[in-house]
Amino acid sequence: MKRALIVLLPAFLLLPALAFAADKPATTTAPTFTKDVAPIFYDRCVTCHRDGNVAPMSLITYNEVRPWIKSIREKVTARTMPPWTADPTYGHFLNDRTLTTAQIETIKTWVDTGAKEGDAKDLPVAPKFARGWNVGEPDQVFEMEEEFTVPAEGVVVYQHFAVPTNFKEDKWIRAAEIRNVDSSVVHHVIVFIQPPPTDRPKPFGIIPGKNFDTGKRDAPAEIKGTKVNRETLGYFLTATGPGERGTVFPAGSGMRIPAGSNLIFQIHYTPKGKSVKDHAKIGLFYLSQPPVNEIRTIGVQNGRFTIPAGEANHRVDSSVTFAEDARIWGLIPHMHLRGKSFEYRLITPDGQSRVVLSIPKYDFNWQMIYSLAEPLVIPKGSRLECTAYYDNSKGNKYNPDATKDVKWGDQTWEEMMIGFMTYSLDSQQIKKSAVTEGSSR
Ligand code: HEC
Repeated sequence: MKRALIVLLPAFLLLPALAFAADKPATTTAPTFTKDVAPIFYDRCVTCHRDGNVAPMSLITYNEVRPWIKSIREKVTARTMPPWTADPTYGHFLNDRTLTTAQIETIKTWVDTGAKEGDAKDLPVAPKFARGWNVGEPDQVFEMEEEFTVPAEGVVVYQHFAVPTNFKEDKWIRAAEIRNVDSSVVHHVIVFIQPPPTDRPKPFGIIPGKNFDTGKRDAPAEIKGTKVNRETLGYFLTATGPGERGTVFPAGSGMRIPAGSNLIFQIHYTPKGKSVKDHAKIGLFYLSQPPVNEIRTIGVQNGRFTIPAGEANHRVDSSVTFAEDARIWGLIPHMHLRGKSFEYRLITPDGQSRVVLSIPKYDFNWQMIYSLAEPLVIPKGSRLECTAYYDNSKGNKYNPDATKDVKWGDQTWEEMMIGFMTYSLDSQQIKKSAVTEGSSR
């Protein structure tokens, strides 16, 4: 069984130039590792396949790669590696890391012609991963104030750790990266921005659909001894799991952290047989001046479903309506182990409906951020609809228990139905720019 991981990556990473550099077909001479294959691996594999990261082996040097060639040929031709679950029919995504047909052909031919190493001078420089940080050197780092000891076994309820920013004025960030997470016991981390009570977030231009509520609003979360309810957690900053490269917001956008905010680390620990200490931190990367668009991430969710025991194809819907002109920058579907497929549709006021993102075979192990190559322009009055299907039958090999009805809940044997969306409101454009004025699809 695959390891359960959430891989939220590489959020909004902008590497289009590199991405196409390796896109040339195999030549008549047999391809070599140094000349033809390494450039593909360095671009598309080594964020995960390097020492100390999420994948089981490093794919940087020829000696590291050689023992794996059969498996590489198989996974690459089956398109299971690199992982990417979106249906290519819909939408273009900045962080799409699928290989082109030509790249797959190159790898296949290379293996079939004896996986030659080639001339050392052809080898490109391996990508550098800056001192533990992928995005670069952060402007400021905030850490959990104390280590958390994860027990060897049992169920650990979601843990919340508040870290004061002590910001005297609002700060704008262009990127954020979570580090020091022990991936063997950390299922995922979400960091929320919790503004001071005087600056609670406004609804930000959307009208939630019916069933939006999780019905658990009053469930208190313990944050450093203070009882707070879910609403006061604040709003989503970034999330991560193993293999992540950090969240870089698209050019022209940024997220505001109000003066006096706390950062709330919400961590889901899954004990793995031995007690481990964990200590998460987040690096923030500041914008020197406010961006054009203030972005916000919210969950388009339905918290009031029941998935009947044994049901193999149960549908759950959620929606929001935009009260203002807006732009959508990124999408993150989220379900648990019974999740089967997920789709986002946009219905514009003229009644036209179109698919924005479709995940035909949802895989809990590979949850990703889908960063739109260009923001989706949303006319006021449009509705964003999400449809999820769940398999609560015995036929789903990941199903923890096919004999139970399942409702909303934090734990992986419970379910969630959230279509996260990162968006901005045109009315809140802080300054106008030719870049965003011109963009439409
Ligand atoms: C997002 C992270 C990620 C990226 C990018 C990625 N991999 Fe993987 N890879 C994994 C993880 C995690 C596993 C182990 C779990 C699994 O197989 O699903 C894995 C497993 C594999 C395996 C199977 C190893 C075995 O046990 O036989 C191969 C082969 C592989 N990857 C090749 C590649 C190649 C080649 C690329 C780039 C073209 C790539 N991967 C890109 C994360 C990644």
